[in-house]
This record gives sequence, C-alpha cells and structure tokens, in this order.
Amino acid sequence: MPPRTRAGGLLCILLLACSSVPANAQDSAAGERKHGYCASCHGIEGQSFKPHYPILAGQSAAYLVSQLSQFKNGRRHDPSMNTVAKQLSTQDMRDLAAFFASVEPRPGHFTPDAKKAARGKARAAKAGCTGCHARSADSASQPNPRIAGQKLDYLKKQLRDFRDGRRSDASGIMHAIAQTLSDADIDDLGNYYAALP
Ligand code: HEC
Ligand code: HEC
Repeated sequence: MPPRTRAGGLLCILLLACSSVPANAQDSAAGERKHGYCASCHGIEGQSFKPHYPILAGQSAAYLVSQLSQFKNGRRHDPSMNTVAKQLSTQDMRDLAAFFASVEPRPGHFTPDAKKAARGKARAAKAGCTGCHARSADSASQPNPRIAGQKLDYLKKQLRDFRDGRRSDASGIMHAIAQTLSDADIDDLGNYYAALP
C-alpha cells in the first residue's frame, strides 16, 4: 500500500473512532461513579427496594433523561427530585441515564393479588397499555418507560397523578388514558404490572 493511501486509511480510522465518541456522549462508567447519592433512595444500581422509590435499573435511557429534565425545570413535581435534579448538568443526566439503563433489573419478588392481576391484565389489553410499554429485555433502548416489575405503590401513585392532573406528559396521552381509570382499575393494573418480569 503506498504511504499516502495508508495515511488516508489511518485518518479514516481515527475519524471513525472520533465520530463514534463525541465529546458529549453519555458515559455509563461516569454515571456509575455519579450515582452514589441517588442510591440512598433508589437503591444500589437503581434496584430500589422501597415502595415509593421507582426502580431505575433497566429503565429507558431516553425516558430517564426526559424525566430528570422535567424535575429540573419544575414541569414534574416531587420535593426530593426537584432539589436533586437542579444540581445535575445535562451531561450528568446523560451519564446517569446511560448507567441505569445498562443495569439488568433484578427479578422482582412481588406477589400480586391474583384476582386483581387477572383483571389488570384484561384492562391493560383493553386500554392498549402493552403496545406502548414493551415487556422486552431491550426496553432500556425504547423511548417509553418500562413499567413491568416496577414498584406497586409507585405505579399506582403515577397513574393517580396522571389522572388527577398532578403529573402531566408532553403528549397528554397518559393523562387521557388515566382519566378512564377508576381507583379499582389502577389497583388491578398495578398488581398486574408490578409482577411482570
Ligand atoms: C431523597 C430521595 C431521592 C434521591 C436522593 C433521589 N431520588 Fe429520584 N426519586 C425520588 C422519588 C420519591 C421519586 C418518585 C417521585 C414521584 O412520585 O413522582 C423519584 C423519581 C425519580 C425518577 C423518575 C423515575 C420514573 O420512572 O419516572 C428519576 C429518573 C430519578 N428519580 C432519578 C434520580 C437520580 C438520577 C438521582 C441521583 C442523582 C435521584 N433520583 C436521587 C427520590 C429520590
Ligand atoms: C400511546 C402510548 C401509551 C399508552 C397506550 C399507554 N402509555 Fe403509559 N406512558 C406512555 C408514555 C410516553 C409515558 C411517559 C410520559 C412522560 O413523559 O411523563 C408513559 C408513562 C406511564 C407511567 C409512568 C411510568 C414511570 O416510570 O413513572 C405509567 C405507570 C404508565 N405509563 C402506565 C400505563 C398504563 C397502565 C397504560 C394502560 C392503561 C398505559 N400506560 C398506556 C405511553 C403510553
């Protein structure tokens, strides 16, 4: 190979390497280093074991960034999270999201009320929940949140918050859907989803 071509090839390889790692890429290893504070509420590696603190492990990265931004700019309300998110830069959010999305969620140990879970399954099919909330293992790369295996109390609170206007979503889809749900429906759906792998 003549020297110029070899040099050209080398430049190409270098450019490719550079273009695949832009300066502001999300950095999962950096996210791991930054997540210690989060762990006090969300558990080590986002594997929460407390009912009102959501599991972040295996959650969609795009969704995590969008929620942290919403907590930061006050569009989503929670006293702890509004304070936490104010201290995060955009890069912090990307790094943390990449880290949590990369963690394999542990199988849950939630035992549902069987009757409620069966009713919840039927309600979810009727409302088309599963079409948007994938169950697959690659949900970390989806735009919509993973709700399978999430904490029961957290799931129920979010559905009530969407329904009653305490939480809003950009498209308004969740607000509209949640308005069709009674408290009993929410309990049923929560039991169904919290027990899903
Ligand atoms: C003092 C406790 C506390 C700390 C510390 C904390 N969180 Fe949270 N976080 C919460 C609570 C409570 C909620 C649920 C809010 C609600 O009910 O809407 C939450 C919700 C979230 C959500 C939304 C999840 C979802 O499924 O919509 C994200 C993302 C999040 N936290 C990320 C973080 C990150 C990243 C850190 C560390 C930088 C952190 N949290 C630190 C208490 C905490
Ligand atoms: C058309 C798509 C779509 C359908 C259908 C849908 N969802 Fe959602 N859901 C979303 C999106 C998008 C979000 C994130 C909203 C936001 O940005 O805050 C969401 C958020 C949620 C959350 C909050 C997750 C978290 O981690 O805080 C829950 C719980 C939820 N949906 C449950 C349901 C249930 C139960 C149904 C069926 C009754 C349903 N969804 C139907 C798209 C959908």
